[in-house]
Amino acid sequence: MSGVTDCVSVAGMAAGLLLAALGCEAPSAGRKVTAPAAVTTAVPSPAGWLDRSLSPDERAGRLVSAMSQDEKLTVVTGYFGVQKEWNQYRFPEARPQSAGFVCGVSRLFFPPQWQSDAGSGVATQGEAPPELERTVLPSGILTASTWNPTLAERAGAMIGSEARDTGYNVMLAGGVDLMREPGNGRNFEYGGEDPLLSGTIVGAFVRGIQSNHIVTTIKHYAFNDQETGRRAVNVVIDEASARMSDLLAFQIALEQGDPGSVMCSYNLVNGTHACQNDWLLNQVLKHDWGFTGYVMSDWGAQHDTALDANHGLDQETGVSRLGKYVWLDKLSAAISRGEVPPSRLDDMVRRVARTLVAKGAVDYPVRPGPIDFAAHAKVTQADAEEGIVLLQNRGVLPLAAGVGTIALIGGHADAGVLTGGGSAQVYAPGGNAVRGLGPKSWPGPEVYARSSPLDALRAELPRAAIRWSDGSDLSSAAAAAAKADVAIVFVTQWTAEAMDFPLTLPDDQDRLVETVALANPHTVVVLETGGPVLIPWLDRVAGVLEAWYPGSQGGPAIARVLSGAVDPSGHLPVSFPRALAQLPRSKIAGEGLAKDQSFDVHYDEGAAVGYRWYDKQRIDPLFAFGHGLSYTTFERDNLAARLDHDELQVSFRMRNTGARAGADVALVFVSPVAGGWEAPKRLGAFAKVDLGPGASEQRTVTVDPRLLAMYDTKRGRFRVAPGTYRVTLAASARDDGQSVTLALPERLIAAGAGVTLPSSPSTSR
Ligand code: BGC
Repeated sequence: MSGVTDCVSVAGMAAGLLLAALGCEAPSAGRKVTAPAAVTTAVPSPAGWLDRSLSPDERAGRLVSAMSQDEKLTVVTGYFGVQKEWNQYRFPEARPQSAGFVCGVSRLFFPPQWQSDAGSGVATQGEAPPELERTVLPSGILTASTWNPTLAERAGAMIGSEARDTGYNVMLAGGVDLMREPGNGRNFEYGGEDPLLSGTIVGAFVRGIQSNHIVTTIKHYAFNDQETGRRAVNVVIDEASARMSDLLAFQIALEQGDPGSVMCSYNLVNGTHACQNDWLLNQVLKHDWGFTGYVMSDWGAQHDTALDANHGLDQETGVSRLGKYVWLDKLSAAISRGEVPPSRLDDMVRRVARTLVAKGAVDYPVRPGPIDFAAHAKVTQADAEEGIVLLQNRGVLPLAAGVGTIALIGGHADAGVLTGGGSAQVYAPGGNAVRGLGPKSWPGPEVYARSSPLDALRAELPRAAIRWSDGSDLSSAAAAAAKADVAIVFVTQWTAEAMDFPLTLPDDQDRLVETVALANPHTVVVLETGGPVLIPWLDRVAGVLEAWYPGSQGGPAIARVLSGAVDPSGHLPVSFPRALAQLPRSKIAGEGLAKDQSFDVHYDEGAAVGYRWYDKQRIDPLFAFGHGLSYTTFERDNLAARLDHDELQVSFRMRNTGARAGADVALVFVSPVAGGWEAPKRLGAFAKVDLGPGASEQRTVTVDPRLLAMYDTKRGRFRVAPGTYRVTLAASARDDGQSVTLALPERLIAAGAGVTLPSSPSTSR
């Protein structure tokens, strides 16, 4: 391929011409798609749709009227961007390591769509060396552990700017599936088990990304809550439970973040594939919630031309095999046969175009440019430092300034920190710090960001003698621990897309911890895990820190929390079970079935997800939702609840009663005194408050009325039942905290009523 070639003529594919030329009956791997001679048709008044004084709707409308049918089909058909042999559609304009590419229409100055995964940073698609080296954010579950939307927004803005500077204008980022299965290999990408917390954090992240004049895509819509059999599993759930759990998380994220796109998932929901699910796409998303963006399929989650088109899919993606697509000439033919109205194609294109205009991707074209890695390192480190959770501390942390010897053991802590695998894989500057681990092919390998906790701790505690032991030999680890004042053991659990994982730490790491703890009672364990794990040795160690996947500045972030330079203020966005028997399903559905064999998973727990489940079953998790310790102490008081113009407002005072600065999270739970919900209580609002030593702050938060309601399917509304409600201010889902009650009148809330809920700090310090 020589010279600059754009995709305009690939529109010819819509008529099947190019495919015929390529011989799609007998695909031959590795042929590049070349464009015939450039089309020279004069541009019909670019002042038309490019006129910035017009509304995005108006501009998109004008563009659609200027397009031929082939051009329309072009902009709603996406290919894999990766330039590897297995991809039979390789466009010179695609960015080589990227997830996706959609041709533009140069005749009309409509830009190509360059798509990249970006949950924890700008990703490198599997098997596509040389890897892009980009800032790695902490995993989504860590960002949710900050309970700090401002930080999540800043993190998103940073990622969005790296995306722009890498030449991407569509990000596949904003994972908001709820954690129903602690073993789900993608929990690290998501925001935890609660709809309000995950919707708020992911919404803020999305807002940050899109502040860079690019589009982002929340995913995976919906109920993609396990990876085992992800293309074959049929999720069975009743409508009310669906609207009060996973769908509510999406709804809140959409309201808070206004993402341009929603990605429908691989799984089926109540018998129908998510990407051809009329109820999910047309009724709930587009009608009830008024979504004006576009629905893209997960990569290859499209199935059937007419059903997908009529039931709400707007853009097919991830096409990589010749002839294996559902739009292009197949959609043309379906339109000619009258199976799909032509207006549906126009609607798809209008949605895509309107979104690219509204988010700025048309008026502010992306182009690769320099990245300020030093500045971005600060952003990712701030995120990590606020989201690492101190789970247990029996007087061992922070490490005393004068600590003499430390034995640092295991988890490759000499080299770096773990990251999550799959399409969200990001390579930190310097590449993979530990090679040769994990699966040889995608979603592997295991990738470590080059950010050594050992080096960082040495820098943090220059006077301490820190001895390294890799943990592969139990007796030398125990001997090192026995000689030290404190032993710190790093344990890791790699998780990744397309797989689920046991909750027991791999490679006998539990035995390593037990052996070290036996040798030294002052043992601290640092977990780097994708989600909750079982912790059988909890009583035998002095301290436990959950560092999740802490990103490319994970080393210094962990070291600073251990040393006390940073006060830990992360709180769990998920519950940690004591044992598998505590979960709604002690075994992930579909385990052991042949690939692609269909099966059902019944979400009989309905909306009682996470802490709601534990409360309902009256069982104690090992660590509760919201749990997180600090090096200082906090008190909460002055709780009051009142109705203000129909909205439930809750005010309280937070006080730092200790001698050092810190931040605490106030969790406001709500419950009907008479019961009747899927579970005893729900998180109704929260606030993270930074407080200097001795300082206090009064806060007022508003409870989203949907969290006071049950979804009434007959009325198609959320309904707050009249009655007495309890409002509880607590430190976690297992804290009784303090409560007040108040009477609420009946209230009906439209299924799609968006409520904007900034928690308003009223400042009386
Ligand atoms: C994943 C998506 C991702 C897409 C493109 C799929 O396998 O499920 O989350 O955005 O690939 O990389």
